[in-house]
Amino acid sequence: MTEHLVGLLLGTEEDWPRAFEALVSRLGPISYGGQQHTLRTARVTIEPFGLRDSPAHELVIDRLAYWYYHPREWLKKIALMDDVYLLNSPFTFQSMEKHAAYCAMMRLGLQVPETVLVPFKNPVDHAKWAYTAQRYNRPFDLDAVAEWLGYPLFMKPFDGGAWVGVSRIADSEQLHAAYDRSGERLMHLQQAVEGYDVFTRSLSVGPETMVMKFRPALPMHERYEVAHGFLSDTVGDEVVTISRLVNAFFRWEFNSCECLVRDGVVYPIDYANACPDVALTSLHYYFPWAMTALLRWSAFCVATGRRPRLDMDSARYFAVGDDPSLDYAAKLRGYRALADEYFDTDRYREFCDTTLRHVPAMVAEWVGSADFDDLLVATVRATYPAHEHERFVAHFRGLVDLWRRENSVT
Ligand SMILES: Nc1ncnc2c1ncn2[C@@H]1O[C@H](COP(=O)(O)OP(=O)(O)O)[C@@H](O)[C@H]1O
Ligand SMILES: [Mg+2]
Repeated sequence: MTEHLVGLLLGTEEDWPRAFEALVSRLGPISYGGQQHTLRTARVTIEPFGLRDSPAHELVIDRLAYWYYHPREWLKKIALMDDVYLLNSPFTFQSMEKHAAYCAMMRLGLQVPETVLVPFKNPVDHAKWAYTAQRYNRPFDLDAVAEWLGYPLFMKPFDGGAWVGVSRIADSEQLHAAYDRSGERLMHLQQAVEGYDVFTRSLSVGPETMVMKFRPALPMHERYEVAHGFLSDTVGDEVVTISRLVNAFFRWEFNSCECLVRDGVVYPIDYANACPDVALTSLHYYFPWAMTALLRWSAFCVATGRRPRLDMDSARYFAVGDDPSLDYAAKLRGYRALADEYFDTDRYREFCDTTLRHVPAMVAEWVGSADFDDLLVATVRATYPAHEHERFVAHFRGLVDLWRRENSVT
């Protein structure tokens, strides 16, 4: 029997880690390659580490290192020295956030709205930078940039997240006010995609993708609509391909991707999300799917001994993107093939259908259990004020139960 330790590097969340831990403990031994494998989880704690220490973990799911430097450096050490499998690569997530993701996907021919990076409004607070800015920052005409893009537009941090510092700009007055407010934050100006038909938010774990209909204007618990068949087959396939392409290209394996769809055209606007939303209180109906995907992908990686690939194969993607004989649809097919190769999709599917055959029924059973209900109630209590507990417990129970009834294996 081989035991595989999966580390969880966490911030403030309790809901999905508890869910993941419950599923791992229910999984039991699995057979692969003539061997029995078991998974065990451990929450990663932050403490001094020697650079030559050997970690016990074989895989780490990271939700913290984007913001917290000590564990980030630990992740880099265990990736570089110990071949620990990471969701996600800290190397690309640190150095290639939203801005780099826009650049790479524009080159690959995706319809990212026109975007301009403007210099800091105020130079970063350091005597040397003030001097440099004064000497080398060229005066520029902010209005001319905005007019070239056209109003309305969005101003948002080049490395953004969680809607912080994002504003919709309708005219020159708002533009200047927002730029003045941006201070020391580096900002993109981006053409707005107005009047879109659907806002899609896809969550991907390894080669699994769930495309969800998102309603950004509603409160968090209502943003993901339970909706099926809201995209045509072609557009649905395109959104899935874009999500997988981004992830395979950057070696991100747990990420979300936002695309706006208007008149059948797919505009990706935000697809570098180091800690994608997997909260029970926002994913509700989709939460069991997300936990299943995390469980299956982790089990696949450790049981099959999948090697982490830190190196990027950018040139192979650019070769497809730069090929003048390929139209957009042909490029998408090329990217999908590269992504499937990276994620070893066929082998993963086979693993799910054989070694993990029992997992769908196991998850459905767990979702119907008292254990899951305790988790749901505790999460609601931790998230909402007392007078809303009853209402939200009923709300999320109803949505999760809908998933369970639709997914119960009879
Ligand atoms: N180009 C755009 N066109 C239309 N809406 C946009 C555009 N860019 C951002 N938004 C809106 O602003 C929100 C936040 O922007 P986003 O790029 O997703 O930043 P964050 O990384 O902070 O989530 C989006 O969810 C969307 O509602
Ligand atoms: Mg976003």
